[in-house]
Amino acid sequence: MDKLRGGFSSRLGFILAAAGSAVGLGNIWGFPTQTASNGGAAFVLVYLVLAFCLAYPAFMAELLIGRYGQANAVTSMQKMSRTLWQKRFAFIVGFGGIICAALILSFYGILAGWMMSYAIEPITSVLGFNETSSWLTSQSMMRNLIFTGLFMLLTVAIISRGVEDGIEKWSKRLMPMLIGLLILLIIYVFTLEGAEEGFAAYLKPDISRVFEPDLLISALGQAFFSLSLGTSVMIIYGSYISKTENLVSLGAQVTLIDVSIAFLAGLLIIPSMYVAQYQGVAIFSDDGSLISGPNLVFDVLPTLFNSMGSIGLFVALGFFVLMTIAALTSSISMLEGPVSFAVERHNVERKKATVLVGLGIFILSTIIILNFDELFGLVISLSTVYGQPLIAMLCCVFVGWIWQRSQILKELKQGDDMVEHSFFWKIWPWYTKFVCPSAIAIVFFHSL
Ligand code: PFF
Repeated sequence: MDKLRGGFSSRLGFILAAAGSAVGLGNIWGFPTQTASNGGAAFVLVYLVLAFCLAYPAFMAELLIGRYGQANAVTSMQKMSRTLWQKRFAFIVGFGGIICAALILSFYGILAGWMMSYAIEPITSVLGFNETSSWLTSQSMMRNLIFTGLFMLLTVAIISRGVEDGIEKWSKRLMPMLIGLLILLIIYVFTLEGAEEGFAAYLKPDISRVFEPDLLISALGQAFFSLSLGTSVMIIYGSYISKTENLVSLGAQVTLIDVSIAFLAGLLIIPSMYVAQYQGVAIFSDDGSLISGPNLVFDVLPTLFNSMGSIGLFVALGFFVLMTIAALTSSISMLEGPVSFAVERHNVERKKATVLVGLGIFILSTIIILNFDELFGLVISLSTVYGQPLIAMLCCVFVGWIWQRSQILKELKQGDDMVEHSFFWKIWPWYTKFVCPSAIAIVFFHSL
């Protein structure tokens, strides 16, 4: 491993860091609410199929680019290029991914700030600081600026420490906490009246909805967001993996963890909504669909927690700490993309690069907070609806059409001598060349 760049010290370190990037607000908030508004289990079924059949192959393409290049996204892709136009194309795709990650972080930091302020509220409530509690849970520019800033400071503090001491160490601490908290909360919700109806809604698919175009688009978008595709993040994390590791199985393990945690989050959120209904809280909107988005997390669930008496304070604390941890392990990966670019391409010292890039992104978040109604939705669509699928598709095109097949095999063989005879090698190169780019393109143009 390159001493100057650093890298993951162990297989587990990589798995937890990559799973940490993948598992975030998208899993714990996005996936259950998409499920709730898209026909329950039908959405879960389609999501699982698309995650393994389309997102996993694209994820492997990004990991491989990074592991081959052993550098930031732009340099890694340029190492695979042979002609001038390919190098230019590599720059556009690699840099596009970095910009996409920065844009996502600028709105993700605001959401994470809300989670932090809601996590502190149960403590101020217990201490009897009622005015502070209501400030923490009501929308205000000042609260948003302060908590987005605090969250960015945490992200910067971890990333400035580098790969092993920052990303890996903190992913190893935070991911087990996240899984533990999630399981504890599910067990508790299991014991409450009304949960059973929620489980049924979550687990019984309405097969007739499976081929609805809107459902397919939402499921693919969710799978891409969840695996952090099209953002240069998996390229940079791939570049920190040792050459002796078996990439195919590492990628599959990360995908499996990501999908399982999304599934577990559904087991928490959807039954919780039905428990809330049992307690008299409205969980259906006027049009008859289940409440999703901000209202679910900041109205329905807090009302449920309040109705639980004093234990509700602990449940609320657990839930919002869980959300904050999930957001943090994702935000560090988003910051690493631009920081590694600044360090490796412009020779900026790591700490300085982290502070400068972090500050730049915080300024962007501030602009969004100050023009919330105009910019918040716009930045989300720009980065997640257009940017991510487009860049992920171009990464597949790069691997499928520009990179030589013999080079790809050589790269894969370093961690697995027998890969040439595997099912993966029989399917994946062809899949990345034709199926992934066309499927992503179809869904992308349809969503326009
Ligand atoms: N995968 C994260 C989630 O599900 O919340 C979001 C994310 C992380 C998107 C990193 C993009 C990224 F680069």
